[in-house]
Amino acid sequence: MKKDAAATGAKKRNLKTMPLFKIINFNPTTKILVWKVTESVTALLEQVVLNETNRMRLDGMKSEMHQRAFLSVRKLLQETGHNDLDLYYDEFGKPHLHGKKHISITHSHNFSAIIISDETVGIDIELQRDKIIRIADKFCNSEFQFLDRNSDEYIRKLTVIWGAKEAIFKIRNEKGISFKDHINVQSFELNAKQNDAKLHFNNLIIDFNIHFEEIEGFTLVYAFEK
Ligand SMILES: CC(C)(COP(=O)(O)OP(=O)(O)OC[C@H]1O[C@@H](n2cnc3c(N)ncnc32)[C@H](O)[C@@H]1OP(=O)(O)O)[C@@H](O)C(=O)NCCC(=O)NCCS
Repeated sequence: MKKDAAATGAKKRNLKTMPLFKIINFNPTTKILVWKVTESVTALLEQVVLNETNRMRLDGMKSEMHQRAFLSVRKLLQETGHNDLDLYYDEFGKPHLHGKKHISITHSHNFSAIIISDETVGIDIELQRDKIIRIADKFCNSEFQFLDRNSDEYIRKLTVIWGAKEAIFKIRNEKGISFKDHINVQSFELNAKQNDAKLHFNNLIIDFNIHFEEIEGFTLVYAFEK
């Protein structure tokens, strides 16, 4: 797959929607949108359509940050010409759009992002944290062959690997997938902003293209099933 358009900031496009942090027109049928959440729950609520189920879900959320993230995803959806009424969740919590497009959703602290595509896609955004070093053994295995624990890139690379595995998990959504045992991320350089990964599960080997970029201390990762 080829990128036919570079990432474009929303700054120039629409000053009123400043928190629309970034749009990546990855290819003619794939769009990634990132929101930097700065608005209150009330302000966001005024701007989005919510279906009944999601209204109840919102009311049940304990954290205000979670509510803001949830609502900001609806803002992103509306930026693409869809709204909450087009969205439904399956029994596993995986989001789907009515029609042929695939969607994946992520939120972490004050960032949220969606990917909408004709292809099978998954997305994840993660804060780069020292803490990831302590759990590296739980989700990495073959990756230790190329990771250098003493490198100052170690945390950033671990965050890419984690995000890639989450994004792949979101695509496949299969019970029993182990990040450590079933998903292998291939060797990569941070400045390449892409790599490959394989899922070995249930007697199948599935290949994925991974793309990533770093945003204000967060790592955004999205995966395409090949
Ligand atoms: C479900 C899961 C993928 C969510 O990821 P997360 O990093 O916690 O949270 P994110 O913000 O990135 O993603 C949340 C979104 O993922 C989507 N999602 C939830 N369950 C999903 C599933 N089964 N499949 C695909 N997408 C799913 C939802 O859209 C959700 O947001 P929303 O409910 O507000 O719409 C994750 O919690 C999970 O279960 N991972 C696999 C378990 C695992 O193996 N963990 C690590 C072992 S070392």
